[in-house]
Parts: sequence; C-alpha cells; structure tokens
Amino acid sequence: MDTRIGTDIAIAVQLLKENEIVALPTETVYGLAGNALQEDALLKIFEAKNRPHFNPLIAHCASWEQAQSYVDEIPKIAHLLAQKFCPGPLSFLLKKKNNVPDLISAGSPLMAIRIPQHPICRAVLEQIDFPLAAPSANPFGYISPTNAQHVFCNLKGKIPYILDGGSCTIGIESTIIGFDADENIILYREGGISREALKAFSGKSILESTQFDAQKKPQSSGQLKSHYAPETALLLGDIETLYTQVKHKKVGILSFTNPYLHLACKERFVLSKQGSLQEAAKNLFSFLRKIDACHLDYILAEPVPAEGLGLAINDRLKRAQALFK
Ligand code: TXA
Ligand code: MG
Repeated sequence: MDTRIGTDIAIAVQLLKENEIVALPTETVYGLAGNALQEDALLKIFEAKNRPHFNPLIAHCASWEQAQSYVDEIPKIAHLLAQKFCPGPLSFLLKKKNNVPDLISAGSPLMAIRIPQHPICRAVLEQIDFPLAAPSANPFGYISPTNAQHVFCNLKGKIPYILDGGSCTIGIESTIIGFDADENIILYREGGISREALKAFSGKSILESTQFDAQKKPQSSGQLKSHYAPETALLLGDIETLYTQVKHKKVGILSFTNPYLHLACKERFVLSKQGSLQEAAKNLFSFLRKIDACHLDYILAEPVPAEGLGLAINDRLKRAQALFK
C-alpha cells in the first residue's frame, strides 16, 4: 500500500468514512484513527500496529456531549473534570454503551473516551458523525510518534494516509483516569494533565490504579513494564554512576538540563536546557527516536524532577528501560 503524507483534511475524512485508517495529529501524540463504531476499522488498527486484541483503544469525540452517546453512568466528578480539562490531554474510563463494538474495550465494560484539542484533529472529528478509535500511531511497544515523519518511518506501507499537523505540542500521551464508587479519581496512566492538577481541582487524593489491578482487566499498556521502548538498551539512573559501568562502550546521554560535557560519549541530547518540564515532555519521544538511530550500545538516561509533567516523563523513561535491568 502506498502511504501518503499530506495536510488535506478532506482526504482523511473521506478515508475514515470508507472505514480506512488514517494517522492524525493530536496535541499529545499522533493517533492511528478509525471509525470506533465499525469492527472492520478497529481490526485494521490492531493489525497495522501489531497490537494484541487484549489491549483496548481510546475513543476520541468532538465534544463531551457527543461522548455521552457512547458512555453511560457518568459520575458527577467526571462532568466537572470534563468542563475543566476538555478538550485536552485527559482520557476517561467510563461505562461503554452497547452501540460501540466490544473490541474497542477488549471486552471490558469500561471504555476510554477523550476529547482532543488539536485543531486539525477537531476539524476531522467535526466532519464525521462517529467517534474515532485511536491508539498512538506506533508499532506496539515502540516509542510514540510526535510528528508525521515518525509515523511514516513506522507505518509506511500499512496505512493509506498520514495527516500532517506538525509536531505535537505536549509530546506525551493523555492522562487516563477512572472512578471508584465514591467518585474518587483512579489514575491509570500519568500524562498531559498532571496528578497535582487533578488533585487541586477535585480536592481529593488520587488513587493508584495498582490497587485495582487484581479486579481490573484489561490493564492500560501504560501499565505494562516494557513499553515506549527504543531498540537500544536504555539505562536509567544517575548518569555519572551509569557511565562508570559502561565506559568502554558506545554510549549516548539523554539528560534533563546538564549536557555532562566532562563525560566522553558519542551523542548527547538535553531535554530542556532551561529546565522546563513542558519542553522536556515535548522533546522526549523525538529525542529517544533520534538517539535510538545512532547505533549505540547504551543510552544513559536520568529521571527529571518528579513533579507535574515530570511524573509522566519519568514513567515513560522507566518503561523504556532495558528489560535486563
Ligand atoms: O494521548 C493519547 O492518549 C494518545 C492519543 C492518540 O489520543 N492515545 C494513546 O492510545 O496513547 P494508546 O492506545 O497508545 O494508549 C491508550 C491506553 C492503553 O494503555 C490502553 O490499554 C488504555 O489506554 N485503555 C484504553 N481503553 C481502556 C480500557 N477500557 N480499560 C483500561 N485501559 C484502557
Ligand atoms: Mg501507545
């Protein structure tokens, strides 16, 4: 299949109406979108991503109002959060109605719903009358794409069209939340809306999804141990300590603000010279891809400050670690 990259919203809309799948930008990462109401389209998404069917997809809607055609039993706190944070990088796990195929939620009674903010994605959603199922547009387990070229590298030949909307402004996936019976927020994946922001808004403590894992299947791939991982072994920790362990190897450094100029290495990528977590999040996946392409033995990476978006960045770095660590 010939894969085209372009900026023509009408082409994307037409393909989606024909049950084809299209990569498109959101403010978090690029998604691989298809009609969420058509099992055919959902199957194409799983196939192109090489994604196991037990891993559910997020349904993207034009508005919170539209979302309510597909989910039920919405707690009051979810409405309030939607008013505050939607459109934006927040996905809600809510009771799925029967008008959406079970494949989208991998058989779970809960489906993830998100109202994205990216203007191009919104323009597409406004021109169709169905929600879009869209996982990140990368092969299962690999680094999420934050520009059209990333998608092309990974999925060329597998999808007909990539709608190019430039680089994603947030650069890290949406935060995924659910609710318990008392309307407490359960955090399933750290992401573009910080834990602190959710806590400050709701006035409640945020529950960890691990408390619910025993009863809850399927889990978020954000919860899988290895995910978002480069091909090159990535070691996470104190860079100077790690460096002494792999000194004679070909290493590259992925650091927060310090370039570690006193350490000899082949490549160095600084996530944000000014120490901005926003900038670091925006650069993270793109730099991981670049450093992965450098044919190194090891990538040495350090955690960023564990606050705000930093928690989501550290979560992705942890999952990008080499499994033997
Ligand atoms: O920012 C984002 O969320 C991007 C953009 C494209 O919207 N999408 C994204 O999708 O990251 P994906 O499929 O790569 O990650 C979605 C996560 C997966 O880990 C999946 O397991 C989890 O959401 N998820 C989706 N539906 C779920 C459900 N019903 N129950 C539990 N986890 C669910
Ligand atoms: Mg993903």
